[in-house]
Amino acid sequence: MSAKVFSLSCCIIPAAFLLIFAHLNNPPTISFLGALLDLAASSFPFNLLEVDCLFNYHHRRGEYNPLCDDFPPCFPPPDTEATSVFCVDPNGCCDFTTVQSAVDAVPRHSENRNVLWINKGVYFEKVMIPATKPNITFQGQGFDLTAIMWNDTANSSHGTFYSASVSVFATGFVAKNISFMVNVAPIPRPGDVGAQAVAIRIGGDQAAFWGCGFFGAQDTLHDDRGRHYFKECFIQGSIDFIFGDARSLYENCRLISIADPVSAGVRTITGSVTAHARESNEDHTGYSFVNCSIGGTGRIWLGRAWRPYSRVVFAYTSMSDIIASEGWNDWNDPSRDQSVFYGEYKCTGDGANLADRMPYALKLSDAQALPYLNTSYIDGDRWLKPYCDSLIST
Ligand SMILES: *[C@@H]1O[C@H](CO)[C@@H](O)[C@H](O)[C@H]1NC(C)=O
Ligand SMILES: *[C@@H]1O[C@H](CO)[C@@H](O)[C@H](O)[C@H]1NC(C)=O
Ligand SMILES: *[C@@H]1O[C@H](CO)[C@@H](O)[C@H](O)[C@H]1NC(C)=O
Ligand SMILES: *[C@@H]1O[C@H](CO)[C@@H](O)[C@H](O)[C@H]1NC(C)=O
Ligand SMILES: *[C@@H]1O[C@H](CO)[C@@H](O)[C@H](O)[C@H]1NC(C)=O
Ligand SMILES: *[C@@H]1O[C@H](CO)[C@@H](O)[C@H](O)[C@H]1NC(C)=O
Repeated sequence: MSAKVFSLSCCIIPAAFLLIFAHLNNPPTISFLGALLDLAASSFPFNLLEVDCLFNYHHRRGEYNPLCDDFPPCFPPPDTEATSVFCVDPNGCCDFTTVQSAVDAVPRHSENRNVLWINKGVYFEKVMIPATKPNITFQGQGFDLTAIMWNDTANSSHGTFYSASVSVFATGFVAKNISFMVNVAPIPRPGDVGAQAVAIRIGGDQAAFWGCGFFGAQDTLHDDRGRHYFKECFIQGSIDFIFGDARSLYENCRLISIADPVSAGVRTITGSVTAHARESNEDHTGYSFVNCSIGGTGRIWLGRAWRPYSRVVFAYTSMSDIIASEGWNDWNDPSRDQSVFYGEYKCTGDGANLADRMPYALKLSDAQALPYLNTSYIDGDRWLKPYCDSLIST
């Protein structure tokens, strides 16, 4: 096959043809393509171009690659004025085989939205987005199909903060339908030193996560600083599995504890959902969970006060009986009882009974809860774009 074949410009192939391609079980045969081209030529005589679109994915890096047979033809789409596309595939079917190499290719201080379309697969690499690379989107194929994983621990990386599989220091990061994971074996137990590992550290402002997974045990999600949004995410952890000093809204998320199980009647604590680190009464930070669910194993707190002004709200959230009846913990510093802000509002389930909560736990009034219930809490009207914004489809 010559490198140049007559075919249609990608953009004008009707969606129906693309669907036929997408659903082919076998690689398209030459005769099938020939028939298509004949058909196309007679139906669309106006746009025969010398574009090697239908075949180029078989010829990446010089030779036929059977692993690319299912790779979408005519993909990725060309850049637009506002969006640049970086295509990542572990089998070499498009431009990049690692996520970091695609990040490295994004221009510094770009005003475009730079979408890394990341094909299904587990990417075993440590990824870092520096502050000089704003406006990057990671778009996976589903949080059960695309994942980034690395194997550092606090010990191996000289501190929890450096253990993250993915670290984001840039503004305007977006992730859709992708998972961030740690690979630590064995899973750290309460009291273990140095075994904790962060799946992602989010240290940039204005970050949004849609349909993402966060898998770890102790210290899974370092929700470090800036304003962040999480929607329909799956977050797994044990001790302090969401921690940091960001201002974040979690909507419709599933929080799954894998903390050590505790026998009925035993009061041992084996984990905590949050460890928020607000330092002073002036800081406008805190975690708000709205319409989430908490389940899994262990006997855990909703939060503990990593710093004196720790602030966390749970609203309309269902809590299983793994939540300890006292609910919260002051990090063994009673002076924090006066400065923490721990609120609950209209939660349900066996874990949501407020009767035995710590005295400083607040049952929020309607007026107290209101500022935490929607994206205004994170100034979303100033920056948050909808899920479909800049979505790249095959
Ligand atoms: C991101 O891109 C937008 C335009 O799409 C631009 O206004 C903004 O300045 C960029 N963000 C940063 C931090 O450069
Ligand atoms: C992580 O995996 C890499 C590559 O397999 C290996 O070289 C390294 O020793 C592992 N690190 C730890 C802390 O296990
Ligand atoms: C981490 O390092 C500390 C101090 O060197 C050591 O005591 C601990 O056992 C290590 N933890 C793991 C999980 O290797
Ligand atoms: C991607 O995430 C969105 C938002 O949570 C969800 O509606 C959609 O079903 C997800 N798609 C896939 C392919 O996982
Ligand atoms: C609450 O979350 C559930 C499960 O994610 C979802 O089906 C439902 O639509 C959400 N309700 C609202 C009001 O967002
Ligand atoms: C969020 O709720 C506040 C208070 O009810 C309201 O003023 C604001 O318009 C709401 N914002 C959004 C984005 O719905």
